[in-house]
Amino acid sequence: MDRVLITSAIPYINGVKHLGNLVGSQLPADLYARYRRGRGDEVLFLCATDEHGTPAELAAAKAGKPVAEYCAEMWQVQKDLSDGFRLSFDRFGRSSSPQNRALTQHFAGRLDAAGLIEERSETQIYSAVDGRFLPDRYIEGTCPNCGYDKARGDQCENCTKPLDPTDLIDPRSAISGSTELEPRETKHLYLRQSAMADRLRDWITTRADWPALTTSIALKWLDEGLRDRGITRDLDWGVPVKKGDADWPGMEGKVFYVWFDAPIEYIACAREWADATGRSEADWQRWWRTEHGADDVRYVQFMGKDNVPFHTLSFPVTIMGANSTGEDWKLVDYIKSFNYLNYQGGQFSTSQGRGVFMDQALEILPADYWRWYLLRNAPEGSDAEFTWETFQAASNRDLADVLGNFVSRVTKFCRSKFGEEVPAGGAYGPAEAAVTADLERRVRAFEAHMDAIEIRKAAAELRAIWAVGNEYLQSAAPWAAFKEDPDRAAAIIRLSLNLVRLYGILSAPFVPDAAAAMRDALGTDADWPGDIAAALERLPAGHPFAVPDNLFAKITDAEREEWAARFAGTRA
Ligand code: MF3
Ligand code: ZN
Repeated sequence: MDRVLITSAIPYINGVKHLGNLVGSQLPADLYARYRRGRGDEVLFLCATDEHGTPAELAAAKAGKPVAEYCAEMWQVQKDLSDGFRLSFDRFGRSSSPQNRALTQHFAGRLDAAGLIEERSETQIYSAVDGRFLPDRYIEGTCPNCGYDKARGDQCENCTKPLDPTDLIDPRSAISGSTELEPRETKHLYLRQSAMADRLRDWITTRADWPALTTSIALKWLDEGLRDRGITRDLDWGVPVKKGDADWPGMEGKVFYVWFDAPIEYIACAREWADATGRSEADWQRWWRTEHGADDVRYVQFMGKDNVPFHTLSFPVTIMGANSTGEDWKLVDYIKSFNYLNYQGGQFSTSQGRGVFMDQALEILPADYWRWYLLRNAPEGSDAEFTWETFQAASNRDLADVLGNFVSRVTKFCRSKFGEEVPAGGAYGPAEAAVTADLERRVRAFEAHMDAIEIRKAAAELRAIWAVGNEYLQSAAPWAAFKEDPDRAAAIIRLSLNLVRLYGILSAPFVPDAAAAMRDALGTDADWPGDIAAALERLPAGHPFAVPDNLFAKITDAEREEWAARFAGTRA
């Protein structure tokens, strides 16, 4: 039994995620977690909300709520949606947890001990009325380019010109409106990533099995010369800057930058999991500390391409830096990254509310429809495109016509001719031998694609495996055989019911609800098929079953048109 640690990039707390976010990280991570569990591996699958930073503060202010309260509410919203999509996290944590606060402060202390932290002075805008330094986007004023009077210090929303707060005409605080702003000296901590550039390059260039998308992004940043990164901010909301348990002189009132504490939540989340389930320190450390048992763990991360630099460079600096002081944190073994999913010829956009969001999707159809479509079109090699036409076609053809139809025909025919138990019939003949041989090849190919996390290829192979059943049923024609040779018809149905069982196991990572319905109807286990010939004899004659409810409804043209119209504009 292998042990696999799987993390998905942790979604920002501010708002419901769209389907592009979902397929860029959480959903493929779930696919892989379910597959590894199906193969009998011990899996720890972790995700969380990313709760710190300016976006969380601003979203809370917009909602008129204290930021802690806003985050607690949005965590529950995101948790319910991830349950709705059947994302099988062992723990859906929070980067604002006490566990993450302690670990973030711990790592900062280790990095300092390793000589990887530098204090730098810089000038920033201070607001006397607000009693705080203002981040760029907390400063508003008139755009020097277009005259828009609500331009932000980082960018003008009206003409899109990137700005510095000092460019603004009549600058004022976005919090209080105060114009009493003055530049002041302030100190910040920098992570000396540049000192680790050679080690990072050695590490990345020896990861021959990583996707090209991952390594090319990492190497591009290294080639451009890795810059040191500021890891502290003058905000109220975040992990207070400390060196382990000790105060950090000069850093009073500051917090760590959100991108410093967010990946550490991958570790803290394991600790949250252990704490919440009555497990011990040793129980989470055996996933994260090589000398505490994690040397035989395979650690796989999932993320969108915009997250790759942080996971290939910054977070590894945190881990390698701490380890250079004698600790033993686990470094990632494989990074699966994704391109973007576009929406009907444009981009999904959270700020503009463009596209379909997770809550809206589940109001229309159950999770399996979305999971299947998104995964079979996963943006692996290049960006992919969501269209309502391809969504309708994939659902109707693959799920309804191929998989759902097979299950329904076989179980209903059996009930009407032989009753609700697996019929005996004679031995399998040449047609069944051909199906077995075909499936032996295909199932092994499917496993190889899943092992390699080649999601589109795996989906195509799974669909071909479903089609084998339909084609077999069509040519063996038990309804015709039944008239002359009921025994022969019984053998065909016996094999077909065993195919339903096989599909109920192989399909579970993609369409977990339908797969569970299939296995429940057959009253069967979920043991992964080894030898296919043996698997197709697994349900013996006399084994009772029930006809399941129709697994998939077809999407009508009227529905498709209605949804395309409803989601053409922007979210209210
Ligand atoms: N919240 C970030 C995003 O959605 C991802 C953070 S991943 C982690 O882009 F590594 F920082 F945890
Ligand atoms: Zn402007």
